Amino acid sequence: MDEEVFERAKAYAASVFEKDSSGHDIYHTLRVHDLAVTICRKEGGDMDIVRLAALLHDVDDRKLFGDNGFQNARAFMDSEHIDLDDQLLICDIISEVSFKGKDSVVPASLEGKIVQDADRMDAIGAIGIARAFAYGGSKGRAMHVPDEAPKEGMSEKEYFENKGTSINHFYEKLLLLKDMMNTDTAREMAEARHEYMEGFLDEFMSEWKGER
Ligand code: ADP
Ligand code: NI
Repeated sequence: MDEEVFERAKAYAASVFEKDSSGHDIYHTLRVHDLAVTICRKEGGDMDIVRLAALLHDVDDRKLFGDNGFQNARAFMDSEHIDLDDQLLICDIISEVSFKGKDSVVPASLEGKIVQDADRMDAIGAIGIARAFAYGGSKGRAMHVPDEAPKEGMSEKEYFENKGTSINHFYEKLLLLKDMMNTDTAREMAEARHEYMEGFLDEFMSEWKGER
């Protein structure tokens, strides 16, 4: 694929996320793209598919567009005359990538595994902490409510409808991601980010109780 396809995909994704403040801004997409490139260099796979799937992975997000049959991604790829086989593969990847609680799937293709790892990597570490509170704030949720326990083992429907606190989101999703990575490269990268979140939660709880 021509480099200009990726430049236009970035501009297209930027236009889709223009008004979003829930953690789905264009910079999330650009970080996922760059992480996916890094992982693909080490793990192999078709770099063009990885790059385009990463750039389009959230343009049909269910929270923003409902179940729309990947209309936005398809329209963009049609306008770029992307091969039909590649379009179908990329739509498969987009449908597999997102976190769905215990209904999460392991993508069938190596390219899908890489994009899923990159998307999950951007949900953990310092960036992940910031995104969780930005998302919670955008939905008017509390940071932390001490007598509200995290919900374990949520289904896709429960996860989607969950309105829990941002701190509980760590126990419901973010701390689980390290062990859900598909590739060795991502598993290794996730270690430091995971530890950083654990340190943050320790500090948060100590300060909450007035211990520090
Ligand atoms: P993506 O589509 O990028 O996988 P999501 O759409 O599930 O991610 O969520 C966007 C961001 O908001 C992620 O960083 C995610 O961890 C965070 N987030 C999702 N649900 C919650 C929640 N209930 N509380 C706090 N943060 C959340
Ligand atoms: Ni994403």
